[in-house]
Amino acid sequence: MSSRQLRTLPVEYLWDGLVLKDDIFNYTGAVLLLPKGETVTRAKLEKLMGFYRDNKNIMVYEDTYLEIMSDEHVPLEVRQKVTEGRAGYTKLHQDIGSLFHRPDYEYWLNNEKMAPLTQAVAGKLQDCDPVTILSCINFPRPMDEELQRHSLNVAFLNGMQAEWLGMPQEEVETLVLAGLLHDIGKTMVPEEILNAPRRLTEEEMKIVQKHPVYSDELLQGKFGDDVRLAARHHHEKLTGKGYPDGIMGDDIGLYARITAISDIYDAMVSTRSYKKAKLPLAVFDMFYEEEFEGLDRNLVMAFLKNMRVKYTDKQVVMSNGRRGKILFIPLNDADHPIIGQDEDIRQTDDEWYCREIVSVW
Ligand SMILES: [Fe+2]
Repeated sequence: MSSRQLRTLPVEYLWDGLVLKDDIFNYTGAVLLLPKGETVTRAKLEKLMGFYRDNKNIMVYEDTYLEIMSDEHVPLEVRQKVTEGRAGYTKLHQDIGSLFHRPDYEYWLNNEKMAPLTQAVAGKLQDCDPVTILSCINFPRPMDEELQRHSLNVAFLNGMQAEWLGMPQEEVETLVLAGLLHDIGKTMVPEEILNAPRRLTEEEMKIVQKHPVYSDELLQGKFGDDVRLAARHHHEKLTGKGYPDGIMGDDIGLYARITAISDIYDAMVSTRSYKKAKLPLAVFDMFYEEEFEGLDRNLVMAFLKNMRVKYTDKQVVMSNGRRGKILFIPLNDADHPIIGQDEDIRQTDDEWYCREIVSVW
C-alpha cells in the first residue's frame, strides 16, 4: 500500500491525449480507472465515469495532480476557480460581495456586520499557508469586480503584515478591517470614471483622488480612528507628495503605512487595463528598488523578508514546462530565484524563468 497522498480533481481537467505517468482512481480512491502508461481519451473516461453519475471527480497522486493543474491545457480561469474554492477565498469574496455593490452604508458599516467578515479573513490567515492565499490574490481579474477583490486582498495582506510584525490578534483584526474598508470611498466615485478602460484625464484623476476623503467621511464614528485614518491616509507618502492631505513623516500612522504597502502590492499583481499584471517575484524587486515613493522602508524590508521566506521551497512551473522548486530568492534580485529541477540547480534568466508558482493543497 502506497503512502503517497491522493488528491481530488474534476474529471473535466483531463484532456484527450494525456499520457498517464501514474494511475488514476475513482472519487473514493479505491477503484483504479486508468493505469499508468495509458493515454486518456474522452470516450474511455466517459465510459468509466458512467458508473459514478453523481460524482465526476477522480483521484490522482500528488505529482500527477500538480502536473495536470500546471499544464497549459487547463485554462487559467479553471485553475483560478479550483484554487479559490479550495482556499475558501470564493466564499469570502461572496460574503463581501454586497458591501461594494450599491452599498447600504447603514446596513454594513457597523461592528455587527463587519466583525464576522474580519474574523473570517483573520481566521483564514491562521489556517492557511500565506502562499495559498497569495495565489488567489495574484490571479489576474476582470475590472468589474476589482474593488471587491482588491479590498479583500488588501485585508489579507494587511493581516499578513501585522502577523509578521508580531502584532497582537486584536491589531491584526483591526488591520484586516482597515483593508476591507480603506477604499469604501470609491463607491462614491462615478463608475464610468472608476472603471474607465483608459488613462484618466487630470480632472477625472482629481475626482478619484478624493476617495480617501470619502472613506474617511463614511467611517466617521464607526470603527475607531485607527481604521478611519488608515483609510484616509493610505495614499499619503512619507515624502509629503501623496494625497489627499499631503502630510508627511510621523503624521502618517503605522496602519496607513502598512495599508499603503498592501495596496501597491495588490495593484501591481492585478490586471489593469493599461498595463499587464506582474509575477509576485518581479513586484518584490520593484519594492526593493524603491520604485514606489514614500513608503516606510523598514516595513517594506520586513514585508520582503517574510515574502521570500514564504515562497522558498514552493513548486514552480518553468518556461520549459517542467516543474521545479524555489531553493533561494536573492534579496536584491527576487525575480531571478535559484531553482532546483531534479539534479539541476541554477538561477533563472531571460530564457529559463518561472512561468507560474503552483499552489499545493
Ligand atoms: Fe485607494
